[in-house]
Amino acid sequence: MCGIVGYVGPQQAQNVVIEGLRRLEYRGYDSAGIAIVSDQAIQTRKKAGKLANLEAELVDSPISPSHTGIGHTRWATHGAPNDVNAHPHVSEDGTIAVIHNGIIENFAMLRDKLIAEGVTLRSQTDTEVVAHLLSKQMKSTPGLADALREVCQVLTGAFTLVVVHADTPDVVVAARRNSPLVVGRGDGENFLASDVAAFIAHTRNAIELGQDQIVEITPNSIEVTDFYGKPAEFTEYEVTWDAAAAEKGGFDLFMLKEIAEQPKAVADTLLGRIDKSGKVTLADLGLDDAFLKTIDKIIITACGTAYHSGLIAKYAIEHWTRIPCEVELASEFRYRDPILTPTTLVVAISQSGETMDTLMAMRYAREQGAKVLAICNSNGSTIPRESDAVIYTHAGPEIAVASTKAFLTQIVACYLFAMYLAQTRGTGYGKDAATVALELSDMPSMIDLVLDTTEGVKAIAKELIDKQSVLFLGRSVGFPVALEGALKLKELAYMHAEGFAAGELKHGPIALIEDGIPVFVVVPPQDDELHDKIVSNIQEVRARGALTIVLAEEGDESINEFSDHIIRLPKCPALMQPLVATVPLQIFSCEMATVKGYDVDQPRNLAKSVTVE
Ligand code: G6P
Repeated sequence: MCGIVGYVGPQQAQNVVIEGLRRLEYRGYDSAGIAIVSDQAIQTRKKAGKLANLEAELVDSPISPSHTGIGHTRWATHGAPNDVNAHPHVSEDGTIAVIHNGIIENFAMLRDKLIAEGVTLRSQTDTEVVAHLLSKQMKSTPGLADALREVCQVLTGAFTLVVVHADTPDVVVAARRNSPLVVGRGDGENFLASDVAAFIAHTRNAIELGQDQIVEITPNSIEVTDFYGKPAEFTEYEVTWDAAAAEKGGFDLFMLKEIAEQPKAVADTLLGRIDKSGKVTLADLGLDDAFLKTIDKIIITACGTAYHSGLIAKYAIEHWTRIPCEVELASEFRYRDPILTPTTLVVAISQSGETMDTLMAMRYAREQGAKVLAICNSNGSTIPRESDAVIYTHAGPEIAVASTKAFLTQIVACYLFAMYLAQTRGTGYGKDAATVALELSDMPSMIDLVLDTTEGVKAIAKELIDKQSVLFLGRSVGFPVALEGALKLKELAYMHAEGFAAGELKHGPIALIEDGIPVFVVVPPQDDELHDKIVSNIQEVRARGALTIVLAEEGDESINEFSDHIIRLPKCPALMQPLVATVPLQIFSCEMATVKGYDVDQPRNLAKSVTVE
């Protein structure tokens, strides 16, 4: 988390940096700050709260025009989210400014040492030590990049550091270990950022930085070295989406835009990967057939919404490939001594490709000899780069903190992989391949149908505004949909919400049912063996006073008499139903947060990309 921007070039640095921060605010919004180099001095402004507060500060207290600047939007880890702890942090003599994303794990030891040497620290952050260490180092190692290189040797943990020095206008230096950093190559100007979104309005030419690398940018040069000063190789690529894709495009909220984009996102993820006969082609997969034939266990690992997509994928993977599949929260995975062998495939699902828990889990899996497949939405991000193979979801940039279109495309990418695996291994699924291909290719228009009928869902949100708790029930693939529905409501509307497997109701959760408690129930298609069982569950909760909101397919009249509200879903097979059933739940949470007056795109305490453990 935390968003980082650096700029050198002919434009006003303040404008470029603030615009970049605006596009990165999804990464954290506890505070924002900027430092520019002008007239051989550093000027900083920083403010707690959202970027707007910093912008107001810049109006009240303008900084000089400058062509070199860095900026930061913070998700607090060390030290409260106040003005003092906001980045940039400067050296005692004011000549060096530093911004940071990540956690410096040995900062307490470094801070104590600096204090013993007589340095006065102003903030509670781990970052400030870097400004002082750098200042000290520059006495014996004058070059900024050289000094930063030396300082990096003594730091442990995860960091992207971006620094400027008063004496070197037109130079920004950055270091990267375990936290994201991309370079934007412009024409007579260059950029640094946590994410290409920050500079996409200026250039689409990006450079991925590797682990433990230092980059020095000037208006006309980009120099990449390792932590020992050796020139390092880097990969350049062209960003395929443009600035408009990262704008709201006429919607009030990024989340609404991203919900509306789901039919296209799903279609784009399928595009060119499956034909009518059901044959799947995954050109960029990077796992050979011989290995695919030997896999005897699949472990999916992910966090948050991506974890829920993994829970759904498990059903399809086991059904189509007959390979046992476990799904594990990435934050738990590497701490439980999982059994991994060279024939285990670990699938790491991540929208951002930077989530630290998922990154650490996949690294651990590789160290233990397992192969890792990344399912990811962000081209060139760390998780796919460090994986043996990748399937990109083609959702386009997702800016709202609560994940929507990435979730649906993760399910689709996992399904494509399951089909590909089944095809390669020649399982009995083969006879169903053409049917499944047809069903999948119908899903974008089915999602469109759901999006056409959202008024009823919004009205339900308004009706339930004063409720304390909301429960969500589902079975089979509907269970993770229930979990996702509850997660969205927690994230956005700050309401107590729980998802349960409907079959578990009688083993505990039914005790929560009291008069008027809203219970959403995801009902499988009528021809599914679980359909009647869940209809019984609806009756059980309603008999105890629950207000039932039932998501059921068109034509399913069996639920009518037990439903206070019905949300109709287009008819589709059970495995495809999550792609339509999730959408009304997204809209419900979005609307609930809106009517409560909350910030939907930037919910409190959250960040989109969690790059700390
Ligand atoms: C954060 C976000 C969630 C997201 C999760 C995993 O917690 O707030 O919306 O699902 O990270 O993110 P990833 O980028 O790995 O999919």
